[in-house]
Amino acid sequence: MRIFLADIRGRMAESMKESEHEMLFRREEIAARVAEIGAQISHDFAGESVLLVGVLKGAAVFLADLARSISVETTFDFVAISSYKGVKTTGAVRLIKDLDTPIGGRNVILVEDILDTGLTVVFLRKLLLQHKPKSLKIAACLDKPARRLEKIDADYVAFSIPNHFVVGYGMDYQERFRNLPDICILNSEEAI
Ligand code: IMP
Repeated sequence: MRIFLADIRGRMAESMKESEHEMLFRREEIAARVAEIGAQISHDFAGESVLLVGVLKGAAVFLADLARSISVETTFDFVAISSYKGVKTTGAVRLIKDLDTPIGGRNVILVEDILDTGLTVVFLRKLLLQHKPKSLKIAACLDKPARRLEKIDADYVAFSIPNHFVVGYGMDYQERFRNLPDICILNSEEAI
């Protein structure tokens, strides 16, 4: 009986969360696309190993799922850069946390939550290339090509989306909503 009530409470909390934001991609769709990308990476690097470099904090959830869907030897590391304040970008990118692992001669895949203006990835790509990896690819959970300021594309993209501000699956609005399991469009009442 206790389990039954807990389940109902869980479902109510979930539907309340969902009604706050418009659903864009359900967890099942995300899982299916992440599995496809993992299979593609496993194919592209067959017989080799890869090092996933996640951009904190937004890419942590995507990286955790992606890493587990790759069948070749996979290790990971994280970098952190100055993050967005609210829904607008300052355009300034600054490294807050550097790599822990040497990446020279390795197959590196930079893992981003969203490729938006491209400023972050262009900055990080330049930085990573200085360490002379064997190869450098870019994986992004979401791509917003309409917002691009830099000429850059990801090698692996789960979903391409129009210019919406999204939250969930690791992505935040002022540090909130990263834990939502689905990707949702931020409720405009939340945005300041
Ligand atoms: P870029 O440097 O403009 O490509 O921005 C990339 C970063 O901006 C992402 O890693 C996110 O942290 C943040 N960002 C861009 N769009 C969104 C969004 O819709 N929701 C949450 N964060 C976003």
